[in-house]
Amino acid sequence: MTSDNMDYITIALPKGKLFGISADLLAKAGYTAQDLSEKSRKLVITNEEKKIRFIISKTADVPTYVEYGAADIGIIGKDVLTESGMDVYELLDLGFGRCHLMMAVNKACKREKLTDYAHTRVATKFPHIAEKFFNSKGMQMEYIKLNGSIELGPIVGLSESIVDIVETGTTLKENNLEEIAYIMDATARLICNRVSFKLKFDRINQLTEDLKQILAMAEEEKK
Ligand code: PRP
Repeated sequence: MTSDNMDYITIALPKGKLFGISADLLAKAGYTAQDLSEKSRKLVITNEEKKIRFIISKTADVPTYVEYGAADIGIIGKDVLTESGMDVYELLDLGFGRCHLMMAVNKACKREKLTDYAHTRVATKFPHIAEKFFNSKGMQMEYIKLNGSIELGPIVGLSESIVDIVETGTTLKENNLEEIAYIMDATARLICNRVSFKLKFDRINQLTEDLKQILAMAEEEKK
C-alpha cells in the first residue's frame, strides 16, 4: 500500500495518548471509518466511501510515515515531531495534548546550579532536543536513550537527570523528582507530506479547514 493512489487520503494516527482525542476530532469533522477505535488491532482502516485510509503507527514513527509519503497527513505531538527532525509541513496546532519538556533531577540530591550537572548522564526519549538545549547552555552531557519510564533513570542510578515531558506533574511528584529547567512547550500538530500538499491540495486544505471549524466550535463551547 502507498498513498500514491490519488483517490485516497491517508492519515497516520499515533497509538497511545493522542489516539482517542485525534480520532474523535477527525470523526466530528466527518473523517472516520468503521473499526477506528483504540480497541481495534487493525493497522490499516479504510473508509471506501469517503476514500480515507487511516494507518495506526507507533507514536514516534508518525513523522516518518508522513515525510516518506506513506501517509499524506498525520497527527503528532510537537515534542516527537521536533525530536524526529523530519521535513514535513505543520498545518495546524490542534491545541490538545498540551505538555512541556523539561529537565528534572532527584530532589534529595539536587545540585546548586544547572551547570553543576555538566558532564553527567541524562536519560531521555528526546536526545536531539536535549542535546540542543544543553549545547545552548554550553554544557556537554552524556545522553542515555530510553524508550519509556524515563523517571526510573535517576532513581536507580542510571543517570543524574532526565529530559522528559510533563503533563500533570504527577509522575515527577510520585518519584521524588524536581523540574530544574524548562525546555519547550508542546501540543498536537496536524502535519503533511510536502508532495501530498501540492498533489492533493483541495482535499487536504478542506480537511484542515474542517478541523479548524471543529476546534473553533469547541473553543466557543468553553466560553
Ligand atoms: C509520559 C512522560 C512521563 C509522563 C508525564 O509518559 O514520559 O512519564 O507521561 O505525565 P504526568 O506529568 O501527567 O505524570 P507516558 O505515559 O507517555 O509513558 P512512557 O513512560 O512509556 O513514556
